[in-house]
Amino acid sequence: MTVPLWNWYPQPLFADMFLTLYVLSAETHAQRIIGGQEVQKYSIKYQASVQTEKGEHYCGGTLVHEQWVVSAAHCWRPQYMKVVLSEHDLDETEGYEQVFNVSKLYIFPLYTYWNYNNDIMLIKLSEPAQLNANVQPVTLPDKNARPLRGDVCTVSGWGTTQQRWREWAPINN
Ligand SMILES: *[C@@H]1O[C@H](CO)[C@@H](O)[C@H](O)[C@H]1NC(C)=O
Repeated sequence: MTVPLWNWYPQPLFADMFLTLYVLSAETHAQRIIGGQEVQKYSIKYQASVQTEKGEHYCGGTLVHEQWVVSAAHCWRPQYMKVVLSEHDLDETEGYEQVFNVSKLYIFPLYTYWNYNNDIMLIKLSEPAQLNANVQPVTLPDKNARPLRGDVCTVSGWGTTQQRWREWAPINN
């Protein structure tokens, strides 16, 4: 899951960032996004895919700095995790992928797994990403920016474009 909503400055100020994310990530659970569409390849340059050792995508992330990705705390796994940038079709190696190991993980201290409050995790990549036409950190607002209210936001990630299984059926909450 990534919720890229902001303008950003390259040096992460973690206190500010957590605060911003904390506010924005409330109430985002237990709802599905219906009606998304495939993006133009590599147009969401900060989009990261968090994957298992076998390369199975299981969570999204947002590149916020050349070596840091924000994801959700519930995406932490005791097993091997890797991060892929410049990814589009998960079933194909398209040649632009940048694959990283994880060198550090920070789970937001106020994360509570039983209700997903403060569901935020910071991932440090094993090395800085190569910033190029496909890979750029998201821009976040400066700390004095007015709060969002009635703004149009972009939400991006991998999902299914067709409903095939019962468990993917839309849910109301
Ligand atoms: C990730 O770590 C494994 C060993 O744990 C190593 O074989 C592999 O080359 C590393 N990959 C990257 C992209 O650093």
